[in-house]
This record gives sequence, C-alpha cells and structure tokens, in this order.
Amino acid sequence: MPVSALPGFRDVFPDALARRRRIFAAWREVASRYGFEEYDGPPLEPVELYTKKSGDEIVAQLYRFTDKGDRDIALRPEMTPTLARMVAQRAAQLKKPIRWFSIPQLFRYERQQRGRLREHFQLNMDIIGEPGPLADAEVIAAAVDIVRALGFGPQDVRVRLSDRRILADALVNDVGLPSAELAGALSAIDKLERNPEAATAWVAERSIPRASADALAALVASLDDPARLLARDVARPLQECLQGLDAMGLASFVDVDFRIVRGLAYYTGVVFELFDAKRALRAICGGGRYDDLLKQVGGVDLPCVGFGMGDVVLGELLGERDGPPRSDPSVTVFVATVGEEDRAAALGLAHALRDRGIGVEFALKRQALGKQLELAVARGARAAVVIGPDERAAGEAVVRLLGTGTEQRVKLTQLVNDYVF
Ligand code: HAM
Repeated sequence: MPVSALPGFRDVFPDALARRRRIFAAWREVASRYGFEEYDGPPLEPVELYTKKSGDEIVAQLYRFTDKGDRDIALRPEMTPTLARMVAQRAAQLKKPIRWFSIPQLFRYERQQRGRLREHFQLNMDIIGEPGPLADAEVIAAAVDIVRALGFGPQDVRVRLSDRRILADALVNDVGLPSAELAGALSAIDKLERNPEAATAWVAERSIPRASADALAALVASLDDPARLLARDVARPLQECLQGLDAMGLASFVDVDFRIVRGLAYYTGVVFELFDAKRALRAICGGGRYDDLLKQVGGVDLPCVGFGMGDVVLGELLGERDGPPRSDPSVTVFVATVGEEDRAAALGLAHALRDRGIGVEFALKRQALGKQLELAVARGARAAVVIGPDERAAGEAVVRLLGTGTEQRVKLTQLVNDYVF
C-alpha cells in the first residue's frame, strides 16, 4: 500500500503550484505597493507563546510535542505572537510605524473541510506603533487591493467590519455585564452564526438577571442594524476608518457588521474579515487591532493592527472562476536537432540561450524531429529552434513559432546575442 499524505496536507503538483505562485505574487506586489518589509520567524515555537494570549480555540488545535530537550513545542498555528516577540526585541531601534509582512506556512489540527486544511500559507500584514484609525483603514485597503489584484470586485468579495470596543461598550453599559464576563460574551457572539446553540448555552449557564437578559437579546437583535451602534461615541474610530476607506475609493467593498468578533482572544478594537459575496466559503482573511499583545508577549507597549490571509480559500475562489489550475509553460524555446551530428551545435546554442536568461529545453536522447516538436508543443514553448546539417553549414538555425507554425532562418550569432523570441 502506498503511504498517502496526512489528512489536511497537500501534495502540491505543478499546476496547483502555478496557482499558488499567482497568489503569492499578488501578496508580494501589494505588500510592496504599501511599503511593507518582509520578515520571517521560526516554524517551531514554545507552546507558551500561544497559551499566553491567542485563546483556547487555537491552543486546542496545536500540533504539539515534547522535544529531546524536554521542551513543550508547537508548530506555529499563527504568526502574530512571533511578530509581537520579534518587534519587542528591536522596538527601540525600529522607526514607527513599522510595516512588516510575512508569508509563513501554518499548522492547525482542524477538522478538514472545504477551505480549511491542517496546513496553509498565510500572508500577514501588520502595522505596529500607530493607534489611529487610518492604520486600520490602511491594512483593510491592502487586503482589498489583493483581491482586486486577483481580479475580484465588490460583487465577489465583501469586507465585514466591526469594532470590539463598540460591542464591549454596549455589553457593559446597556446589558450591565461585569467586565470579567466580557471575553466570554464576545466569544459567544462570535459563535452566533456558526454555532448559535453555543451562544444560547453560554447565556443559560449564567444566572443573568431578567432585565440584563432582555437587554442582551435586544443587543443581539440590533446587530443587524448597524446604524444604531454606529451612532455611539465609542464608534468614532470605526467611523474614521470608514471615512479613510471611502476616500481611497474602496467603500463599495465594505459592510459594517457587528456579528464579526473574531475568534482570537487578543483583539482590542477594529476587527474585520473578508468573505466571498455568496458566503459559501470560510473567511478569506481576518484581522484587526491588538493593542495589548506586544506588552504581554514582549513587555513593550506598542499598538498594532493587521491581518492574516490564507492561500486555501483564495485558491478555491480562483478555481470557481477560472476552472482547474494550469501549469505555467516551463520553457520558452525548445532546441531540436535533425541528426545526431547536430547535437554538439544544439547543446552550445541551448547553453548560450540559457546564459541570456531564456528558458530552454532539448531532447535528452536521440529522437525523430517530429517527436521533439511534439514535446516542444507539450511544454508550451513559444518557439522551436531546429539545427540540421544545412543550417550548421550556413551558421544558421530555423526558428519555428509554435503558435502560428511560421518559420524563418536566423543567424546563430543573432540567436545567441539578441534575437527576441
Ligand atoms: P485567523 O482568522 O485565524 O487569523 O486566520 C486568518 C486567515 O487564515 C483565515 O481567514 C483563513 O483564510 C486562513 N486560515 C486560517 N486557518 C486556516 C486553515 N486551517 N486552513 C486554511 N486557511 C486557514 C490569524 O491567524 C491572525 N493571527 C491574523 C492576524 C494577523 N491578525 C492580526 N495580524
């Protein structure tokens, strides 16, 4: 029996890798347009890094083991705690606001389903050292520009935007919830859509006074009517963030939606997720403001905002729109020979073209010219360069454009120096 890959892990064939490369290219291109610098961290981390502040959900999903030095180790399930530690180490030297991005592979022992695997790559873009709402707008705009770069518009992808401070204010002041209960209440609201029973159970487990329970029910009902919550004083940063996005011309992508809370425990302000407009898949991206994490992880008090965007859901969306992935052409030019005695000239030409930076392949064994041209077409080469005895004698080769079938004789010196295929 062949040994198959573990559940939730991918064997990535070249066609699928071509699609992943396209996603990575969009990530890198937008990160660079927004002035972000790339960093990386270790794929293994002490478990403690996540138990401190990520929240129970992600800790329960850790790939966790004890190493030979008896350390409690996890494969990284997210990048944000690593980022917090790294920034804290150099906080004094780094010019604020810090704009950093990374594309780590992450591991979570989740129940495998469409758009959810046990490993994924995740673009992280974070701004550190700026508490103002324009930093929130900036990272949301970057996330939107990535989906735009991949050809999606507001009819395809929606930003669902909220602010935990607004819900917290309503929970404490309208419902009368003790602040010690806030985290639990936010987590229950986070589960409303996916698992409403959990939210009901959370309320049932507490002996909440009747008036508070009514106020809580009214608050939950009002989540669908953002205007009321948006009118509160505490909503001013969210309003400014919205104004920023509007001024950038991106308001058409954004819905204020107070059902978005986010599962991770460390968020303190604006939170957002990007979804496919049909909501058929899990979130494309999630992020928000986490102003206390650096203090908790590294002892440095710096506000942060950022997001993580995975490759899996984006890949599903591209698949729905474009069909199955296709490999990129592996070569531009295929050098073919008429007879065995042409081989040395062909090898010399192939190598000279490679030195020019052109992708070149040739048959590795003796083959009829027809077979060689067949392989050239299968590789998606733009041109075949054919060398035979007559051409060699004249210091030339035949360039056959494989798209049109047109042929022309070209001097070998020109091919080697500056011929454009
Ligand atoms: P997250 O919501 O856990 O946030 O993940 C962000 C995105 O990563 C998700 O929206 C999804 O696209 C992708 N993702 C997460 N888990 C999986 C999975 N099992 N399979 C496929 N894709 C997945 C965070 O991780 C935060 N640390 C993001 C952040 C950065 N917040 C601030 N800065």
